[in-house]
Amino acid sequence: MSYERSVSADPHRLSPETVWEVRMPAIRVGADAADELGYQLGQLGLSGDGRGLIVTDSDLVSLGHVDRVADELEADGFDVDVYDGVEREPSIEAVEECIAFVRDEMGEDGYDFYLGLGGGSCMDTAKATRAIVANGGEVLDYVAAPTGAGKNLTESGPPLILLPTTAGTGSEISPVAILSVPEKGIKEGISSTHVRADAAVLDPTLTTTLPPDLTAKTAMDALGHAIEGYTTHQYDDLLRPENPADRPVYAGRTGFTEMFSEKAIDLLSSNVRRVVNNGDDIEARGAMLKGALFGAIAGLTAGASLAHAMAYPVGNNYHTYHGETIAALTPASTLGYNVASDPPRFAKVAEMLGADTSGMSTREAADEAREEFVRLQRDLNVLPSGLNELAGITVDDTGTLAESTVESQQRLLRCNPRPVTKEDVEEVFQDALYNWE
Ligand SMILES: [Fe+2]
Repeated sequence: MSYERSVSADPHRLSPETVWEVRMPAIRVGADAADELGYQLGQLGLSGDGRGLIVTDSDLVSLGHVDRVADELEADGFDVDVYDGVEREPSIEAVEECIAFVRDEMGEDGYDFYLGLGGGSCMDTAKATRAIVANGGEVLDYVAAPTGAGKNLTESGPPLILLPTTAGTGSEISPVAILSVPEKGIKEGISSTHVRADAAVLDPTLTTTLPPDLTAKTAMDALGHAIEGYTTHQYDDLLRPENPADRPVYAGRTGFTEMFSEKAIDLLSSNVRRVVNNGDDIEARGAMLKGALFGAIAGLTAGASLAHAMAYPVGNNYHTYHGETIAALTPASTLGYNVASDPPRFAKVAEMLGADTSGMSTREAADEAREEFVRLQRDLNVLPSGLNELAGITVDDTGTLAESTVESQQRLLRCNPRPVTKEDVEEVFQDALYNWE
């Protein structure tokens, strides 16, 4: 087994990392924060005569959220167009359609500002669209080789504000747009600081329409980010790149990210039952949005690991939602296989999830994190009991899934706090078939 697990770029000096950084959009949080969008655009340098585009999907139009946001902006003097053709887990072609819409309406310069309104798919489409229009060319120019040409983005473009309607993906703060490549059965990310939004507006009144099952699934993604971020390598266990520009997006946990992980695990695990049972509970919806934000600040800077690596081949092959896939995989991976990497740390996770670990040994307490997590999932009553219920996956499929995880997800696997071989991944897939009977 190889212990090569540096997430630093080659060539690197053989010295530990000593530096960490935080980059964040402006963040506005709270009920009816979406009513202050005109003011927020003003802060981003736009006077009330600009023309912007809301990137969203048709469900959010029917639910009235799009009109609400557009009316608010028009009252402040802005002109607003709507692109509602976003598809779930968007393909590169779907983003090209949005870019073509922009160029048809506004020419090569595009709009004066962009809004992404919706779940991760809408936000990622908005992020990629703004970036490609600002930098010219097409999506594949900027997707990593061999799928694309791997060009670097150099421009951020005009202001982009993201308004999540789910509490989960963390796309509102992340520097990545994830796009699927259906013909290859893979997902690719365009990852750059120029992809990150300028501002995020977290308004719980935009999330009350999310149905119970999607509420639970997106929450499991958010919890995954928080726990994976809390249990990944510490930043100075990694190697320092020679050039700061080569410092990876997933740079290990720091005191800063741990603080957010701890708060995220607490907020998400203690409010998710409330929002799944009563979608109109604004206080709990607000807590979930904050929990997802904090989880993203932690997990999407410290680093996601095994569960996220294994989720991509499952999503690509079985077309499952990201959140439900993370839900099915987390007990066996993050809270199963990885526990041996640092039992005292996982014992703390168990406590944060609400488990009573008094009288237990450290190792028993660490294993209790999985028990408590499964208890939470069963209470929610809308989540699959494992990969078998999720997508009919059986033991016969786990070898292929393990192979494609190891082939396509080295970036995430190298961050995993416990080294993994293909055989290990296959065993974890088998363990994730049934989390409960
Ligand atoms: Fe995720």
